[in-house]
Formats: sequence, C-alpha cells, structure tokens
Amino acid sequence: MTQKESALNKKNSSWSGRFNEPVADLVKKYTASVGFDQRLAVFDIQGSIAHAQMLGAQKIISLDDVNAIEAGLAEILLEIEAGQFEWLLDLEDVHLNIEKRLTDKIGDAGKRLHTGRSRNDQVATDVRLWLRATADDVILGLKKLQLSLLDLAEAHYDTVMPGFTHLQVAQPVTLGHHLMAYVEMLKRDTERFVDCRKRINKLPLGAAALAGTSYPIDRELVAKKLDFDGVCENSLDAVSDRDFAIEFTFAASLVMTHLSRLSEELILWSSPRFAFIDIADRFCTGSSIMPQKKNPDVPELVRGKTGRVYGHLTALLTLMKGQPLAYNKDNQEDKEPLFDTADTLLVTLEIYADMMRGITVNKENMRQAASEGFATATDLADYLVKKGMPFRDAHEVVALAVRYAVDKKVDLSDLPLASLQHFASEISDDVYAVLTLEGSLNSRNHIGGTAPAQVKAAIARARKSIN
Ligand code: ARG
Repeated sequence: MTQKESALNKKNSSWSGRFNEPVADLVKKYTASVGFDQRLAVFDIQGSIAHAQMLGAQKIISLDDVNAIEAGLAEILLEIEAGQFEWLLDLEDVHLNIEKRLTDKIGDAGKRLHTGRSRNDQVATDVRLWLRATADDVILGLKKLQLSLLDLAEAHYDTVMPGFTHLQVAQPVTLGHHLMAYVEMLKRDTERFVDCRKRINKLPLGAAALAGTSYPIDRELVAKKLDFDGVCENSLDAVSDRDFAIEFTFAASLVMTHLSRLSEELILWSSPRFAFIDIADRFCTGSSIMPQKKNPDVPELVRGKTGRVYGHLTALLTLMKGQPLAYNKDNQEDKEPLFDTADTLLVTLEIYADMMRGITVNKENMRQAASEGFATATDLADYLVKKGMPFRDAHEVVALAVRYAVDKKVDLSDLPLASLQHFASEISDDVYAVLTLEGSLNSRNHIGGTAPAQVKAAIARARKSIN
C-alpha cells in the first residue's frame, strides 16, 4: 500500500474511532501543522527511538518490536532526507505522518510505539530537541560575529572618532572602543542563550497526555539517551508550558535590538553626510531611478527584521497567557514564530559577520568630525580642576570659552593662550596637550576607558574569553 492509498480512508485512524463524520476539509487545513512542523522530523525520530528503546528495556514492548521500530524509523529518515517522503495533510502533523508510515512499513510493532506516550509530551520533546540544537547554532553565530567585530576593532583600536550623546559630538573615542561596546552586548547575549539552553534541556517525555502514564517507564533513561540534563518534574507543566521558547525568543529579540542599534549607526555612518565608513558593495543595492545611490539595504533590513522578531515574542507571550493547564491546541501556534525567530536570527548573525569584514573606514573624516564640535571641552574643564578649580566652576568657565570660540568660528585649541587665559588665569602652555584628540583619548586610561592602550587590552581579554 502506498502512503497515499493508506491515507485515502479519509478518517484519521489515530483518533477517528470516536467520530461519526469525517473532519471537514477546511477544518483539516485549519488544524494541520504538517506544513511547518515537518522540520521537526529528525528530532521526532530521535525521540521515538529513545522512547522505544526505553519501552524495550522496561519490557513494556518486545525487543523484536524495538528492532523493527528502529529499522523502520531509519528508513523513514532516509526517505525524508532524500525528499521522497510524502507529507499528508490528512495525517495532521509530523508525528502522525511518521507514525503512520512506520505502521505501514512494520505493522503492529509500529502501533506499539505510542505506548505510554502522547503527542503532547512528544511535541514538547521535539521542540526542545530542535531548539537545543538551534541555541547551539546561535551561540556559534554570536561567536563568529564577535570575532569579526574584534578584527575590525583591532584594526582601529586607535582610530579617532567623535563619541556621541544625543547624536551630538560629545567626546573623542576610538572606533575600536565603539565596536567593543557591541562585543560586550553580544557577550551578554551569548550568556543568555547558554543559560536559556539549560532550561530547554529537560525531557518532557513520560508526561504523556498530561498526568503521566501507568506503564513502568524509565524517564531518566530516555533523558540520558537524548542528552537531556534531566526530566521535567511535573507532567502538567511538561506538556503545557512553552516558557523555554519564549525565553529563546526574548534572548533573540535582545540580540536583534543590539544589531538594530549597530545597523542604525552603520546607516548613518555610511551616508554621505557622515562619510565615516563604506559598506562593501555586495551588501548594498542601487536605486532604479537615482543613479548616484548606494543604499545600505542589509543594515536597514536588520533594523526592520528586529520588529518582526519582537512580534514573535509578543505572539508567544500572548499565546500562553490565557491557557489553562495543561495542553491546548493553541500551543501548536508556538512553532511558526519560534522557527521564524531562529531563522531570522541565524541568517542575520551570519550576514552581519561578513558585512563587518566588508567595512572600510574613512579615518580622515572620522578624525575631522571629532575635531569639530568641541569634543575636548570636558578635557579643558578637567585640566582646570587639576589646577585647583572646583569642577562646577571649571564647567562654567569652559562653557564661556566654547561660546567665544563658536562666535569666532574656531576650535578651542585654535584660541591663543592669551584668550584662553582671559577665561581662567590658571591656564598655561601645557593646556594644548589636553586639547588635542590624542591627549583626550590617552587620558582616559582605566579599565573601560577609551585610551587606545585600554582598547587593546579589552580586545585581548575578549579574544581570550571567546576562545
Ligand atoms: N501538532 C500538535 C502541536 O503542535 C501536536 C500535539 C497534538 N496534541 C493534541 N492533543 N491534539 O501542538
């Protein structure tokens, strides 16, 4: 019997015994998840094999059955990998599709696989297995992006740029220091995924539909076979909660937040008004009407896709908030947001790591921008404090000097000593050393400061902690 033929008795034989009429076609379409949950197939098979082996070890089914199940599932896996498996909407979801195929292949042994199990604990297990692997991919993606940022930071550990607050030139920083801020963010993001993985990595199987099962199962054995750190300790919780998925999506949202901020900066910096950087052509597109344009599409899309991931987080939180214990069909709606979150995040991390390698920096323009806008005004105030003036007074004195320089359309460092002394008699020749960009940078020489020596040290520390 082919897969098609066996499914042609329209009713879903897994549960149709209780029903007087077949499910309406539209309802089938509405309730089926096979269109999207088939990507869990590998994990569904893994989980089934571990479950069957446990049933065998506990003498709940025979070892012959276990062998038949393993062999049948191995064949099915090959069919799926070869793209030859026919997914049938009539069979609702990935679980029933695989189970039906198994039963067609091996008969009664296939029908024994579901002993002591429900799709409720099965699907929760599948999602956790998939998400665990995905979290590992994300952690690797975060690492690669950090390494890419580190390379750029290293090349520019002493490249001067204006540091901004309120998007106004504030104080000089180095580009390396600026980039290392993102490395810090991604470091915390990585910690979040590592931590979230611990809570993903618990086994729901054994919870069965909601209350556990009357068979003498060994949950620890299944957990061990599937590399889980332990079992979910309450059956109702095991089948119904999806907090691990929400946590993952939240951690993903934060990564996207960080990358969206960086994207916004890349967009600004690459605009001809700033002209701080150039993004490699392979990450940009042109305009169909304006020949001069080179648009930073990739960072713009990262910024846009961030909203999409936030949407998934909101969807998942909302999905759970009204559900009474235990499993409800609502939970089937967890998959698409979760899958799309992972897909969006993984591809974003990958493209970002490559894009950062394709950035060229216009050091001259960055430097020029840092030397406009009185970026070293704070340094002058600090200079006066070191000469004995209280900080608030120094702040006032420098504000007056800045106003004077603005009127004269010159920088503070362009004012002759006599004019500066007019504002504070404490000022002497040595003031020009602190008014330079390098003087300002080098003076912030403590852990977390922007002095190039500190940036270098921060890069070295980060490399060590990443590897
Ligand atoms: N496709 C379902 C899901 O994703 C599997 C669990 C179905 N359980 C049930 N009692 N109908 O949640």
